[in-house]
Formats: sequence, C-alpha cells, structure tokens
Amino acid sequence: MNREKFISLAIGTTITVGTTSYLFSDKSNLLRADMKTTEDKNKNLKSDEKEILFLASLAPSGHNTQPWFVQYLEPLHWIIGNDKNKWLPAVDPTQRETILSIGTFMQNLEYAAGAFGYSCDWNLLAKTNQDEQVMEVNLIKKESKNAFDITKIKNRRTVRSNFLSDVLKKEDIEYLVNSEPEFIHYLPVTSKESQYIDEQTIIANRIQSDRNPAQQELAEWIRFSSKDAKKYSDGLTTATMEIEGFSGWVVRNFYSKNNVMKQDFRERGIDNVKKQVSESAGWILITSKDDSVATLLETGRKMQRLFLKVRERNIAIHPMTQILEESSTKQQLNPAMGISENIQFILRVGYLKNYPQPVSLRRPVDWFIRS
Ligand SMILES: Cc1cc2nc3c(=O)[nH]c(=O)nc-3n(C[C@H](O)[C@H](O)[C@H](O)COP(=O)(O)O)c2cc1C
Repeated sequence: MNREKFISLAIGTTITVGTTSYLFSDKSNLLRADMKTTEDKNKNLKSDEKEILFLASLAPSGHNTQPWFVQYLEPLHWIIGNDKNKWLPAVDPTQRETILSIGTFMQNLEYAAGAFGYSCDWNLLAKTNQDEQVMEVNLIKKESKNAFDITKIKNRRTVRSNFLSDVLKKEDIEYLVNSEPEFIHYLPVTSKESQYIDEQTIIANRIQSDRNPAQQELAEWIRFSSKDAKKYSDGLTTATMEIEGFSGWVVRNFYSKNNVMKQDFRERGIDNVKKQVSESAGWILITSKDDSVATLLETGRKMQRLFLKVRERNIAIHPMTQILEESSTKQQLNPAMGISENIQFILRVGYLKNYPQPVSLRRPVDWFIRS
C-alpha cells in the first residue's frame, strides 16, 4: 500500500497506480515529431512524388480521417480517390465535408508540386460526393519552380485554445479576406452575427453530443493511447484535442470509447466549447455558389489557401462545424447571417501569444497509395 498512489479521476472513480505501473504507463502525448517516416516500400514512387504526396496529406480533414487515397497510374499521373471507409455518416451524411477535405488535399498537392517544379493538370471525374474516383491529375515539369514555401504546409495546424479576443487588424483582414473577396466573410467578435455563431455553436454541440450515433462516431475516431495513435496514425489524439499534463495521462491510460458515451464526458465537451467560443477575434465564414462536387472541391482549396496564410500573422483557425451538421441550427443560419450563398465552413479565428507546433498524425504515403 505504501508504494501506491491514489488518483481521483474527474469521472468519479478512484484508481490505484503503483510506482512501477506508472513507469510503464503511457506517459506523454504522442506528437507528429515523434513519428519516424517509414521506409518507402513502394518502389514505383520517385522521391519527388513521395514528398509531394506526403505534403498533400498534411491537409486538414474532419476528425482527421484523411479520407483520400491515391491511385497510381504511372509516374506523375494519379487519380485522387474518396475512401468511403473514412466517411463520417453520423455528422456528414452527404459527404460534404469529405469532399471539402479532399479539396484541401488537392490544394496542398498543387502547392507542393509547384515547389518541386511541376504544374498540375486536373481532370474532374466525380459526379457525386460518393464517387470513388474524384480527380485525375498529371504533374507536368515546368521551366521554373514557384516560390511556394513548403514549411507553411508543414507548420499549419488547427489550434483550439488560448485565443486572444482582439479583433483582426485591418491589414490582416486585407491580407486574408480581401485578397479573395468572394465567398470569405469575416464577422468581428464585436458584431451581433459573431455572437449569434457563438451561441448557436454551443447549442449545436449540445444537440450533437446528445445524439448517440454522432457521439459513437466521435469515439471511433479518438485515439486514446499512444499505441493506438501510432497504429492508426489518424483520428484525434490527446495532443490534437489539446489535453495536456495530468488530464492527458489519465485519458491515455484509463479512457476508452465507453467513457465518451458517459454524461460527464459529454458535459465536459460542452464546457470546453463554451470556453472556446468565449475567446476569439470572431469568425470567418467560407461560402459557395452551389453544392456541386467541383464547387465543394474549390471551396476546400480556398479554405486551405487561407489556412496556409494565417500562421505568419499569428492567427489561429479552428473549424467548428456543428451548426452545419445539425439540421435545426443549419436551417436558421443563412437568414440570421443575411447571407444567401451556401455556408460551407465556420472558422473561429483569433490571435495567439504562442503558436504551437503541429501535432496531428498522418498515415504514411504507402498506406494511402493504391496501384
Ligand atoms: C471539413 C472539416 C471540418 C472540421 N471540423 C472540425 C470541428 O468541427 N471541430 C474541430 O475541432 N476541428 C475540426 N476540423 C479540424 C480537424 O479536426 C483537423 O484538421 C484535424 O484534426 C487535423 O489536424 P490539423 O489541422 O492540426 O492538421 C475540421 C476540418 C475540416 C477539413
């Protein structure tokens, strides 16, 4: 007994941990930097190709499902595919977010290809959000490399906490929003539209966390232990959820899918959302003229172009999509915003004091290449 520590968990149970078991426990959050890049077993892939696809895969996706695959036709000639095993039917039944995520992947791919001296020739194949083959791409060698700085792709990340509440400066709005004036709307924290999104985000999160299929789906994509995080290299880890220190240790070692279904876990999720929406410079909405596959892909690309620009201005982006995922909140959104276009992204934005390094994991290229 004297060598044992008693730990009272927030879930209300007391667990006993011996010193030895602590030493062998899952002691720290697994980070992207902890992952070694695996050897390329795919002999067809040239080093440029592998690097371009790796950079493409650093794109964001809902629950970090990474819903893309790449069919390798021949060198520099691929088909970007939609992997239906990575869909989120409970929160994204029409695969709208899946296609937006594939759009972010395409934007990264095009920027990365440019940095290696290729331009992309795209040919849209998909007619619906469910078609497996989405886009054919040919990489064509060009005379000069473009100047796109790939460290921007490597350093981009979603940040969810510690936003400052100052409104965006005029010159930052100019740089981020007005450079692509169509379809990007900034709602400063002082506006009534921003307050409306704050309130509705809390309401939508409550509705969603009461919906068991949505909560179950979330549980499926949480990688509680570092072992699982490493094994799947996707989903939401304690590091991506920004659960640090002692709480992170508890979650990594003692939590499982069952905990996610418990009432206290759901309540803590809502408390977290309340805190998050109370800190921001406001919201950015990205809209589109319609919901076609081509438009959704272009909208995903637009969001990624924006996302790759914010870090240099010390601005964080946190997509909070629940209003669009719950029908009652979605229905009221357009009239409340006075916007007639289709709202595709709701992004909380804010300045940060310290910009953290990216931590979310990615599957190695070999895992998403198909021949
Ligand atoms: C279409 C889409 C929807 C998203 N929705 C949410 C969301 O509702 N809440 C959230 O915390 N993050 C959301 N994200 C961010 C992802 O969780 C994040 O991109 C992913 O975990 C990978 O992390 P990274 O962006 O730091 O690379 C969304 C991302 C995309 C592309």
